[in-house]
Amino acid sequence: MTDPVPQAQGELAERIRAEIRAHGPMPFATFMARALYTPDLGYYTGPREKIGTGGDFFTSLDVHPAFGQLIGAQLIEMADRLPDGPFTVVEMGAGKGLLAHDVLRTVQAARPDLFARLTYAIVDVSPDLIARQKQVLAGFAAHTRWYADLEQVPRVTGVFLSNELLDSLPHHQVVMTADGLREVFVEVRGDGFGEVLREPSDVRLNRVFERLGITLPEGYRTEVNLAAEEWARQVSERLSIGYVLTIDYGYPADVYYRSDRRTGTFLCYHRHKVSEDPYSRVGEQDMTAHVDFSSVARAGEDAGLEVEGFTDQAHFLVGMGITRLMERVLARDGGDPENSAEFQAMRKLMDPHGMGKAFKVLVQRKQVPAGGLSGVRFKAFDVSDLLGTTPR
Ligand SMILES: C[S@@+](CC[C@H](N)C(=O)[O-])C[C@H]1O[C@@H](n2cnc3c(N)ncnc32)[C@H](O)[C@@H]1O
Repeated sequence: MTDPVPQAQGELAERIRAEIRAHGPMPFATFMARALYTPDLGYYTGPREKIGTGGDFFTSLDVHPAFGQLIGAQLIEMADRLPDGPFTVVEMGAGKGLLAHDVLRTVQAARPDLFARLTYAIVDVSPDLIARQKQVLAGFAAHTRWYADLEQVPRVTGVFLSNELLDSLPHHQVVMTADGLREVFVEVRGDGFGEVLREPSDVRLNRVFERLGITLPEGYRTEVNLAAEEWARQVSERLSIGYVLTIDYGYPADVYYRSDRRTGTFLCYHRHKVSEDPYSRVGEQDMTAHVDFSSVARAGEDAGLEVEGFTDQAHFLVGMGITRLMERVLARDGGDPENSAEFQAMRKLMDPHGMGKAFKVLVQRKQVPAGGLSGVRFKAFDVSDLLGTTPR
């Protein structure tokens, strides 16, 4: 398929080539997992600075602390709808620990009674980010805990929280051909990598589209994030009573797999530059794809999570009261939006041409009555936009 990419050098690339030479071409999802998670050499498991000015990308947490503060306010509302007793927030993929910090600070200030029974647990794969999280959260040592994976998290009453986790999970790449759906496998070509199409390595790759009622046109290439569906099942297993609050860029399936989006959403980030080439800088660039929220919601439903709401980041933040914070900052800074860096930063979180619309917020609930959450009261979508009317 693609031409050889000779610049894929480095120890990690060589190790992956050795694995392919020994075992044959590997599914793209396996290549991506090796590039992100190989101990010491992978993008997330290596020491490279990843998030922020000196890294490869920014997230909402880098933009303004109002983001974490308002998520904290949403978690308080959620806690108030749950039985009294220990309240646990499990954040998976906590980056530099800023969301955890802003949430803990918000709950501590607004609700000391809840703070007293709050545990904030983090699940992450990145040793250097975990070290950073521990530094940032040193002042909350009595309320924080780390787990190496979801399996180790005890069943909790509380909330599973993530921001920009699902987009970074290794996904499969597929292409619709005249002979049916084929999967992209990675092979060695010269001293680089190339791609070949094969029968899907996992029957679920075909089932995803059957279940969504979507027929891909010939020549269409896209991603399938089976790991995100597996994640929804695992989260539901670990949640006794409570909510799942998931923020990421993505779409409902009918938008994601629209017939004109013929090359998928896969992108790499290196030093704030975007590329579509996964085979250079192996282990030195982030690799992501948008999230098909319909499949995540359906996997959750199968596992006992009901959809409470689905909206975009701007509607979520307005629902949580960001405009009051913006007015306060503007008044403090003299009233001219152009002269208030903080006002501009908050506006960026809501940008209808950027973060405000690209990022979506999915709230699922388990064993909790519906309603009562400010973050999803202004709807950018109906739940039917997410779950559709096709057979489940
Ligand atoms: C794109 S960063 C987002 C960080 C943070 N949530 C933020 O918004 O700034 C992805 C985070 O997920 C973690 N991560 C990636 N894959 C993971 C996995 N399979 N399990 C747990 N954490 C993972 C990374 O180490 C990193 O902390």
